[in-house]
Amino acid sequence: MSATALVLDQLLETSVVGSFTRVGYDARRRLFHWTAASSMLEKSVLITGATSGLGLESAITMAKLGASVHFIARDETRARSAREQILAASTSGEVEYLVADMSDLHSVRDVAERMSARSERLDVLVHNAGAIAPTLTFASDGVEVTLAAQLLGPFLLTQLLLPSLRAAAPGKVVTVSSGGMYTQRFDLARLTNGVEPYDGVETYARVKRALIVVNHEWARRVPAREVVFATMHPGWVDTPGVRSSLPRFHRVMGPLLRSPAQGADTIIWLAADAQLAASDGDFWLDRRVRSEYKVPRTRPTNPAADQVELWEWCVARTSPPETLSP
Ligand SMILES: NC(=O)c1ccc[n+]([C@@H]2O[C@H](COP(=O)([O-])OP(=O)(O)OC[C@H]3O[C@@H](n4cnc5c(N)ncnc54)[C@H](OP(=O)(O)O)[C@@H]3O)[C@@H](O)[C@H]2O)c1
Repeated sequence: MSATALVLDQLLETSVVGSFTRVGYDARRRLFHWTAASSMLEKSVLITGATSGLGLESAITMAKLGASVHFIARDETRARSAREQILAASTSGEVEYLVADMSDLHSVRDVAERMSARSERLDVLVHNAGAIAPTLTFASDGVEVTLAAQLLGPFLLTQLLLPSLRAAAPGKVVTVSSGGMYTQRFDLARLTNGVEPYDGVETYARVKRALIVVNHEWARRVPAREVVFATMHPGWVDTPGVRSSLPRFHRVMGPLLRSPAQGADTIIWLAADAQLAASDGDFWLDRRVRSEYKVPRTRPTNPAADQVELWEWCVARTSPPETLSP
């Protein structure tokens, strides 16, 4: 890695817009001479939210690389259509889906059970499903839907699939966060009680920050030789989700937005290539570990205490089968 490449990469990172758009992706791909992701033959992956955008792109590419692809979708018709697209690219011929809404902990338990019965070993779990809720909506257990679908559902799914991930030692868990989390400081009370009036974008950003916090605690509680944990953000990507949730942003950024393949690149690379053990618990963009803070006010005073507090809240809400001591 040349010093010039590192300096240019850092300049991009500081600029935010340069980093998050396709400008950053293209520059880094050239600067660091990225190669295609490695074969995933004999690897099994489970991806949430693979009916659209980054999840669909990741599933298609991993299927091309030879992985057995399982995915979770909340809608049967959309799942069937995604399966056809993924199967058309697959070299292993193994593409299966499970139907569950990630905000519903009962259905998360159900799919985890079916997934464990289907395959004893799980090499990679990708928590990708995500959306911005336009109005205050509650999941079946009374938790705000963004928090339920993107923090509690994935937390429980990881817990339930730990034996399968351990069987792949080291299994990998890749969680898709968002650059939006840079705007938020972790605060459990604001995260769990919400703020008035409801703001879907801010709620989403708070949940995406919480994913970074809980990921560190996963890495602390589960030895890296068993399972390694990574969070990443894809930059700003032209997906159906962005088009429908942030139409003005989509119009303004237009041609600067990344393609789904560019946004999904680091998800796929982390799944297929990266030797994550040395950076267990870290946060990635464009194949490199990145700082988790861009704004001083978002820095925590006691990150270790935040992690434990959030972990305990997730445990209390999901009643997982295993007590993982710190
Ligand atoms: N695009 C970006 O610029 C960007 C930037 C930062 C982070 N991200 C993150 O990247 C991930 C993928 O987003 P995307 O842009 O690809 O959006 P997308 O095109 O809307 O895809 C989101 C996927 O998640 C699924 N999903 C949403 N809520 C779900 C739930 N409760 N249960 C099960 N599945 C659910 C959707 O299913 P349906 O098809 O049924 O709706 C869809 O498959 C999200 O976590 C998002 O926060 C995206």
